[in-house]
Amino acid sequence: MKIITVNINKGGTGKSTISYNLAKYISEKKDQKVLLVDGDRSCNLSYSFDNLGKSTIVDIFDRKPLEIYPVSKNLGFIKGSELLEDHSLDLKSKQNNCMIMYMWISDNYKRIEDYDYMIIDTHNDDSLVTSNFLAVADIVLGVSEPSRNGLRAWLELEDTINYLKSELIELKTRETYVNAEPYLLGNRVDHIGNSSKDFLEVAEKQNNFIGIIQKKEMLAKSLIDDISIFERENKMSVKEKEKHESFFNNISSVFDTILEKADRT
Ligand SMILES: Nc1ncnc2c1ncn2[C@@H]1O[C@H](COP(=O)(O)OP(=O)(O)O)[C@@H](O)[C@H]1O
Ligand SMILES: [Mg+2]
Repeated sequence: MKIITVNINKGGTGKSTISYNLAKYISEKKDQKVLLVDGDRSCNLSYSFDNLGKSTIVDIFDRKPLEIYPVSKNLGFIKGSELLEDHSLDLKSKQNNCMIMYMWISDNYKRIEDYDYMIIDTHNDDSLVTSNFLAVADIVLGVSEPSRNGLRAWLELEDTINYLKSELIELKTRETYVNAEPYLLGNRVDHIGNSSKDFLEVAEKQNNFIGIIQKKEMLAKSLIDDISIFERENKMSVKEKEKHESFFNNISSVFDTILEKADRT
C-alpha cells in the first residue's frame, strides 16, 4: 500500500477537492482499492459520505478500535472529527506524538494491506496531528494555488518535511522513519490570469513539480454535490464529453503521474 498525504499550509487551495477526486479516480477508473482518510478537523470530506457511524480518526489517536467505512466497492473511508487537534487530543504531553499514525499503520497492517493506496486529506497547519500524516507518507502532494503565497507555502512544506526527516529517527541507528517525497501540484490555474503565468514560470523550475489542474466549475462543485468529476463524465452526452475532453485528458494524466511517483517509492 502506498500512502499519499495531501497537504500545504494554506487554506482553500483544493486539498479536499483533489483528495476526493483522486480517490474516486483510483477506485472507479483504475479499479484499485483506496482507503481515504479525513485528517482535517474541518471534516469537509466526511460530509460527502452518508450513513457513517460514530467511529472517527480520533480513535487512532486515542488508541481505541477504529471503524473503516466501506463507502463503495473499492473505497474505504476513515471519518474525520472536529476534535482532531493537538489540544483536544492532549498531544503535546504524549511521547512519540508525531508517530501515532505510524504505529497504528504497523499494528493494523494486516487489516489494511488489501488497499492499493491510502490518501490522507489534512488541515492547513503545521500541527502535531498534521506531522503524523506527513510522517507516514510515501509522497506528499503540495496542492498550491497559483499565487506568490502558494509558492511560499510550497517552500515551507519542503522545509517541514526535511525537519521531520531529521527529527523522527530511530535512536540507535539514527535512520529516519520519514520517507515522504514532496511534489508540487498547481491547482485552479486559469490560463488567462497573470498570477497563473507568474506561478507557472517559477513552478516549472521546481524539481518536484508534478503538473497543473485547471480552474473548473465541475471540480468546484464536486464536494458540494458529492459527485466526482469522473462520475459526472459518465453521465455526459458525447457532445459534452468532447467539450471537456482536454480537461479530462490533462487531469487523468496528472493523476497517473502522481500514482507513478507513489508506486516508485
Ligand atoms: N480546480 C478547481 N477549479 C475550481 N474550483 C476549485 C478547484 N479546486 C478547488 N476548487 C474550489 O476551491 C475551494 C477550496 O477547495 P478545497 O478543496 O475545499 O480546499 P482546501 O481543502 O485546500 O481548503 C472550494 O470551493 C472548491 O470547490
Ligand atoms: Mg480541505
